[in-house]
Amino acid sequence: MTLIPQPKPWIDAIHAYVPGQSAGDDGQPLTKLSANENPLGSSPAALAARAAVATGTAAVYPDPDSVALRTAIGALHGIDPARIVCGTGSGELLTIAASAFAGPGDEVLYVRYGFSLYEIAARRCGARPIVAADSNYATDVNALLASVTRQTRVIYLANPNNPTGTLTSRAELARLHACLPGNVLLVIDQAYAEYVADGDADGALDLARSEANVLVTRTFAKAYGLAGDRVGWGYGSDHVIGLLNRLRGPFNISLTAQAAALAALGDQDFVTQSRAHNAHWRSWFSDELSRLSNHGVTVVPSHANFVLVLFEGAVTAAQAFQALIDAGYIVRWPKGQGLGHALRITIGAEADMRAIAAALHDLVTA
Ligand SMILES: Cc1ncc(COP(=O)(O)O)c(C=O)c1O
Repeated sequence: MTLIPQPKPWIDAIHAYVPGQSAGDDGQPLTKLSANENPLGSSPAALAARAAVATGTAAVYPDPDSVALRTAIGALHGIDPARIVCGTGSGELLTIAASAFAGPGDEVLYVRYGFSLYEIAARRCGARPIVAADSNYATDVNALLASVTRQTRVIYLANPNNPTGTLTSRAELARLHACLPGNVLLVIDQAYAEYVADGDADGALDLARSEANVLVTRTFAKAYGLAGDRVGWGYGSDHVIGLLNRLRGPFNISLTAQAAALAALGDQDFVTQSRAHNAHWRSWFSDELSRLSNHGVTVVPSHANFVLVLFEGAVTAAQAFQALIDAGYIVRWPKGQGLGHALRITIGAEADMRAIAAALHDLVTA
């Protein structure tokens, strides 16, 4: 019998991350509102900076420690650059956070309807993923606390949360942290923080400044419009950041990505425009869909750059998903996450939101 390498059982249990689709199942290209990308594109300053680097040499490695970028992040947020680590997207940091503190026999906790990467991160290091109940799609701090055991090592909390868009308040986050044993790492994933009017409304950066067991992650993929460059960052204690620095990939932020992210940080007007566009069209779209509530269509109030729309009437999420494909749009149908009755729709350009609202209205009231 031929021998082949066998994966560890916990690795074998991993289902690969499902990225937002950009085409229909038949390959038909569609307007993509399935990955929470920025409809305004990227900051022109960021594009110019990466182009300038790209025309130089690619023969040298980038700065392994992303010093200029960390310095600029620190200055913008008033935090110590020595306690910042950059990642190949915040996804790299979220993943290695579990590996740093959890392993076989340990538990990694997150809320039902949380970001799908958390389960992969937990399984990858051999820990047991534990899911706490939500409260009407929002994070339930009591349920999280009730799920903490002596085996819990890491808790992930996205704020705002993906795919629900809900926001946990500063008081609730502080209460969660205060009730945790010191050996549990609380990871606050702020991928969508720039879409909240006051970016640190939940106080996560303040918490990470003073508490040794808090890690905050951010990304350039959303409001900064640099999803393709794969840059994120984390902020925590010297202890936590030191460990993540040992685990992250060497030279993990490319030359062009460091240049683009640095320039994007300097173009806060672009971030402000992105936030304003999103707030306006998220509100408009949510109001439009609220007119369909007597047909069983509900929008979960969102603080992010997408909305979760529930279909609990005669028209199903499957039918709505197909109707939007027919209208030229691909959105996220998170049926693998227990949300077979919902669609997550990224806030796109004005014309897109108007077209989607009209298509859903026609479908539901036909
Ligand atoms: C909640 C949340 N966290 C983290 C990420 C990862 O983002 P990135 O790796 O692009 O920084 C995403 C991406 O969609 C997300 O939704």
